[in-house]
Amino acid sequence: MDRAITATGDPDRASVQASEARRVWERRATECHDDLRSVLFKGLPEVLNQEIHHRHVAAVLEGLAGLPENAVVLDVGCGYGRVSAALRRMRPGWHLVGADMARPFVERYQQYVGGSPTSGVCAQLPWLPFAESTFDAAVVVTCLMYFESPGWVTALRAILQTVKPTGSLVIIEPGWQGEFIYTVGGILPRILGRRAGGPSPTGGRAFSLSEFAAGVRHAGGRLRQIWGMPVLTCLLTPLAGIAQVSPRTARRVCAASRAVDRIAQTRGAGSVYVAASVSPT
Ligand SMILES: C[S@@+](CC[C@H](N)C(=O)[O-])C[C@H]1O[C@@H](n2cnc3c(N)ncnc32)[C@H](O)[C@@H]1O
Repeated sequence: MDRAITATGDPDRASVQASEARRVWERRATECHDDLRSVLFKGLPEVLNQEIHHRHVAAVLEGLAGLPENAVVLDVGCGYGRVSAALRRMRPGWHLVGADMARPFVERYQQYVGGSPTSGVCAQLPWLPFAESTFDAAVVVTCLMYFESPGWVTALRAILQTVKPTGSLVIIEPGWQGEFIYTVGGILPRILGRRAGGPSPTGGRAFSLSEFAAGVRHAGGRLRQIWGMPVLTCLLTPLAGIAQVSPRTARRVCAASRAVDRIAQTRGAGSVYVAASVSPT
């Protein structure tokens, strides 16, 4: 690791805390490729995963607007670096630090995000090897979903402690209301190749908006903004079919839905992913 980011304690402690979940993720990390299907929807046409990825990155940038050019940003549960790589392209001055419990993912993160300043650390939430207030900001994308309640609140508290009181955290996790909409009685999961809310090799769950807001409060954070992609969520099922026939049409509809989503994304609207901007105090 370069610059002033120092991992405290024993970075191998996460490895010592062997758990079934970690073994599953390590196996997945060695089997998967650095592509969107390995971290988003396995069965969704590429064009739709690209759209979701685009929305995630846009939400992170919006949530972290105003950070200094040389900000130090932690990406927790970083995987192979999907989000960090996009941030590095768009904010080359930021020092990105990826933390993940699967060592193969940490190694891939360093290669995939590449360049400097970038660092990867092996750490299993709720343990993080950083002193309080180390980071200007943090992001956690589709990682808290693998905790049961109240474990995710403990993990969230640990992340918030590493962020400066003046900093920001952006959280993006599956939204329960959105999942209810886009599955349309269980039709879509067959297309997507997974059962929403049901068993998958890595588990995972969706959050209701009220649970999300209460968890942030209990973790000591303050919810500043919450937003989603309700229009895209409603269109996801038909678009999955359209994209099989004409990816170009699906891409155009996705682009058009962005503008409408900017207006429609209200606090209560159901969304396949919910993004929140949180301040540590
Ligand atoms: C679905 S992937 C998301 C990866 C990345 N954030 C993205 O959106 O592309 C979930 C990641 O969380 C990591 N993870 C799950 N539980 C974790 C924990 N308790 N501590 C640290 N990382 C964890 C997994 O190893 C995996 O890389």
